[in-house]
Amino acid sequence: MTAERSIAVSLIVSILASLALPVVYVLVGGNPQLEGILLAVALGGLGLAIVIWAIRLFEAPVEEEPRHEFGSTAAVEATADALDLGSITRRRFLGSLLAGAGGLLAAALVLPAFSLGPHPTRQLFETAWRKGSRVVGSDGRPIRPDQLATDAVQTVFPEGNVGHADSQTLLIKLRPEDLQLAAERQAWAPQGVVGYSKICTHAGCPVGLYRAEDHSLLCPCHQSTFDVLRGAVPTFGPAARPLPQLPLELDAEGYLVARSDYTEPVGPSFWNMTHTEMPD
Ligand code: FES
Repeated sequence: MTAERSIAVSLIVSILASLALPVVYVLVGGNPQLEGILLAVALGGLGLAIVIWAIRLFEAPVEEEPRHEFGSTAAVEATADALDLGSITRRRFLGSLLAGAGGLLAAALVLPAFSLGPHPTRQLFETAWRKGSRVVGSDGRPIRPDQLATDAVQTVFPEGNVGHADSQTLLIKLRPEDLQLAAERQAWAPQGVVGYSKICTHAGCPVGLYRAEDHSLLCPCHQSTFDVLRGAVPTFGPAARPLPQLPLELDAEGYLVARSDYTEPVGPSFWNMTHTEMPD
C-alpha cells in the first residue's frame, strides 16, 4: 500500500469513528466503554496518518538545481504542463481528509458537555424549611419543648417533608443559661431548644453523635466536632464551618416552628470556595 493510501485509510477510519461517536451517544444513550474505544480509534487514526505523512512523504532529500531564466511564455507553459498535477490533487485530497478528521474529532470532544446534567438552579441553597414550618419527628408529630428532656437529641423535619434529606435537623434541648449564642441568634432557641443541620459541613456525612458531657456533636466520618452551645462552631477535625442553625420559635399552641429556612446552605461548602483566599 502506498504512503498516500495508508494516510487516506487512516484518516477515513478516524472520520468514521468520530462520526460514530455522536451516533452511539444519541442512539445508545451513552456507553463509556464504546465511546472510549471510538475516541481511541479516531485519535489513533489521525495520529497514524500524521506520522506516516511525516515519515514517508517528507523523507525525500531536498535537491536543488540552479535555475535559469525562461526565455519565453511558451517555455513557461511547457514547464507548467510538465508539472505532476496528479500529485497536487492527491495532496489536496489528503489535506481535506486531514482537516475533516481533525475537525470531527474536535467536534466529538464537545459531547461530554451534554452529560453535565441539568442546571442545579437554587435547590442546593434551599431546604424544605419555610417560615412557620412545624418541627416534627420522624413519626410526623409536632414537638413542644416541654416534651423534650434536657440534653436529649432528636432528628426532626419540617411538617409534610419527613425524610427530606437536606432538611434533616438535630433538635437538642439545653439549659438556656448555658447557651452562648451570638446576639442575633438569641431568639432562635426557644426554651433552650436549638436546631442544627444534621449534614456535616466537611463532606456531608450525617452528624449522628451527641456527647452531653461537653455538649458536642460529633461526625463519625472524620471526627469533626461541633460546639452545640456556641452555634455549632467546629472545635476539632476537618470541618471548617459551623453546622447551620435553624431559627426556631414557638407557635400559638406552643409547638416548635421554623422562623425561616436555614440562613445559609447546608452541607459541605461549595458556593463560597471561589471566594476563599488560597494560601501562598
Ligand atoms: S464528613 Fe464529617 S468530618 Fe468529614
